[in-house]
Amino acid sequence: MPKKLFVTILMLSCLQVVILDKGTGTSTDDSLNIVSTGEKTAAYWLAQARAAVEAKANRARNTKKAKNVIMFLGDGMSHQTIAAARLALGNENKKLSFESFPSVGSSKTFCVDVQVADSACTSTAYLNGVKANFLTIGVNPNAKYKNCNDNVDRTKWTSSIAQWFQNAGRSAGIVTTTRITHASPAGAFAHITDRNWEANVNVSSGGCDDNIVDDISEQLVNGEVGSKFKVILGGGSENFIDSSFTEHGVSGMRSDGKNLINEWTSKSNKRSFVRNRSEMMAVDPKKVDQLFGLFHSDHIPYHLETVSKNEQSIYPTITEMTMKAIDMLSTDTDGYFLFVEGGKIDHGHHATQARYAIDETIEFSKAIQATVDRVNLDETLIVVTADHGHVMSYSGNAPRGNDIFSTAGTADDAMKYYTLSYANGPGYFFNRKPGARVDPATQQSTANSFLFPAMAPNEIETHGGDDVGIFATGPNAHLFTGVMEQYIIPHKMAYISCVGSGTTLCS
Ligand SMILES: *[C@@H]1O[C@H](CO)[C@@H](O)[C@H](O)[C@H]1NC(C)=O
Ligand SMILES: *[C@@H]1O[C@H](CO)[C@@H](O)[C@H](O)[C@H]1NC(C)=O
Ligand SMILES: [Zn+2]
Repeated sequence: MPKKLFVTILMLSCLQVVILDKGTGTSTDDSLNIVSTGEKTAAYWLAQARAAVEAKANRARNTKKAKNVIMFLGDGMSHQTIAAARLALGNENKKLSFESFPSVGSSKTFCVDVQVADSACTSTAYLNGVKANFLTIGVNPNAKYKNCNDNVDRTKWTSSIAQWFQNAGRSAGIVTTTRITHASPAGAFAHITDRNWEANVNVSSGGCDDNIVDDISEQLVNGEVGSKFKVILGGGSENFIDSSFTEHGVSGMRSDGKNLINEWTSKSNKRSFVRNRSEMMAVDPKKVDQLFGLFHSDHIPYHLETVSKNEQSIYPTITEMTMKAIDMLSTDTDGYFLFVEGGKIDHGHHATQARYAIDETIEFSKAIQATVDRVNLDETLIVVTADHGHVMSYSGNAPRGNDIFSTAGTADDAMKYYTLSYANGPGYFFNRKPGARVDPATQQSTANSFLFPAMAPNEIETHGGDDVGIFATGPNAHLFTGVMEQYIIPHKMAYISCVGSGTTLCS
């Protein structure tokens, strides 16, 4: 055994003794002091195990039809992200709300032409039930990326579960913390061969005629599915207005003279458009048929930023948006499909700013808890999943309860290493100097915006190809167990809720 490894192991076993000695007999949330006396006995683990097995074995299956389906999509919420979030909540014993759901499965996320997916081809899969090409939304894999003709060829369009609900005379709505025209929510209503065609200028700069190819904003406001949404909440007002108009203090991206927000509002006096949290909270669902809220010109800021800038009255939380959306949709007694995206988990990871990614995960989890508390699980199916993974790893030999954002141990270069690090990303530039790592001991790493180290330099960290979790509760949630292809998910939701053109529980 190399001397160094031996020393390390020796150090580790010493560390363990220290931790165990610090046990106080009760479980507390104190870092490094969370190991209870109970945890040091086999009897404790055996009792816990028996209770867990009995609870699982005795759980009755709900085999009813789902009147409502709520899908929560944690963009880029890998298993590592979930595990790290438990630590951010206090310690290893903590759980995110959806970890208590009775049925858990796993989803394979690759797209037709790529190994590691993006949010466009995946939203085509988990909302439309068809695997697609990288960067394309709501079109089948026969449609090529950026192809103008394919974009308007309706035989190449797929249809989403939001549309299946609408076709069945039920309602649909979408909520996100990103621009509402971003890839994940767009899968519910758009057909586009390039996810970046959010405004008409992007269609023309992409080489297509914007009189023929409708951009994503246009499709949301005037498209078959988008125009019928009962609730639309998110960010991104800039894509809906011409540069001669201003929203949220920012002039629009469009060059076609349109103000799609005014167009949307003018279609009925029972439509309400809102620009900030206070306005959204004041909407009475009994008085309006359709609600459209855009809270920022671009993506909604990170929750941590909103809090630190004291802007909570401007930007609603994902929980507040979700509750308002459920209020709106519940006015349809036939039932509804709601899509809620925690979209900024992905943004935090792309920037290797793990604190943002993990805080957004916790906010996402809170919205799910509030939903569980609010709806009747006898008739409402809740499915929580992610579109793809990320390349953050959770490493090391840190003691129980150690700060997840801190260092885990000492590497062979005699410097500490962080528990969280990335395979690639912008964190590389801040954590390398010629020929060596930057020593974490010399770093100020406590800011929310700290960039965690990455192995390969990339201005934007990439997604990961790992499978992601699927957590389900409510009617027939047990259908979501097993390792499945991502595109199967909407077909299962459709089966359980009796919508779409496939076999259903009711047929
Ligand atoms: C659309 O085009 C504008 C203007 O060139 C650009 O600033 C914006 O980033 C583009 N949007 C996307 C999603 O690529
Ligand atoms: C919300 O918008 C309304 C209307 O534009 C405005 O009067 C109000 O001050 C805004 N509230 C906040 C907190 O920005
Ligand atoms: Zn991403």
